[in-house]
Amino acid sequence: MNILFIADVVGRPGREALEQSLVSLREELDVACCIVNGENVADGVGITPKLAERLLAAGADAITLGNHTWRRAEIAPYLGASDRVVRPANLSSSAPGRGLAFVPATDGTKVAVLNVMGSLFLEPPRSMWEVVDDLVDEARATTPVVLVDVHAEATSEKVALARWLDGRVTAVIGTHTHVQTSDARVQPGGTAAITDAGMTGPHDSVIGVKAELATHRMRTGMPVRFEVAEGGVRIEGALVSCDPATGRAASIEPVRVPWP
Ligand SMILES: [Fe+2]
Repeated sequence: MNILFIADVVGRPGREALEQSLVSLREELDVACCIVNGENVADGVGITPKLAERLLAAGADAITLGNHTWRRAEIAPYLGASDRVVRPANLSSSAPGRGLAFVPATDGTKVAVLNVMGSLFLEPPRSMWEVVDDLVDEARATTPVVLVDVHAEATSEKVALARWLDGRVTAVIGTHTHVQTSDARVQPGGTAAITDAGMTGPHDSVIGVKAELATHRMRTGMPVRFEVAEGGVRIEGALVSCDPATGRAASIEPVRVPWP
């Protein structure tokens, strides 16, 4: 069974690339379940209910988020009601939404989707290490197929979580840096991992932002309103093949598709 993870979708260019090609990409790669990180889809920061619905309509079975979860106020009640859009589980337990969802694959297999966030630079209210084991237990009580999106800046935190969960989940996929790493691997216990799946959006940019705006802010230290770039759009992510009966991963391949 193939699970396609689509890396952080940035702005309109990333969304349009998915809307126009995810259905055919799913067919081409024989994908039974597709999970999309959508935390940058609203003009580069956050997500709105309307954009979440558009990603689901484009072929996503579930959407994960990250540090920009609350950037758009209207997403809060939507997250409270959604069973397909998850936010990092280690955001405040008093906030709306959940970090774990179960979605059906095309063959009927239930896929657990778990979203957590690392600490470096992101400063979540709680450490992901305090919540992840209980959530993995909860997921595995329902299905052996568990995909974890670890949204984090530090490669070390993402590698460490992949090792910690080896043998207990199907895949640990890193997001947030927007730069795809070349370390896709299946660990000894059968858990696939990649430190960062990359970015679905304009790569002629500084991680999605118009390069001249990002460099101006860095060089001068002055406030600059960021705008999403447009050129060099690619769909990036990772394709995980697993045994639906055991949840064990057989392979993981990085996905990198130029668009159009
Ligand atoms: Fe992020």
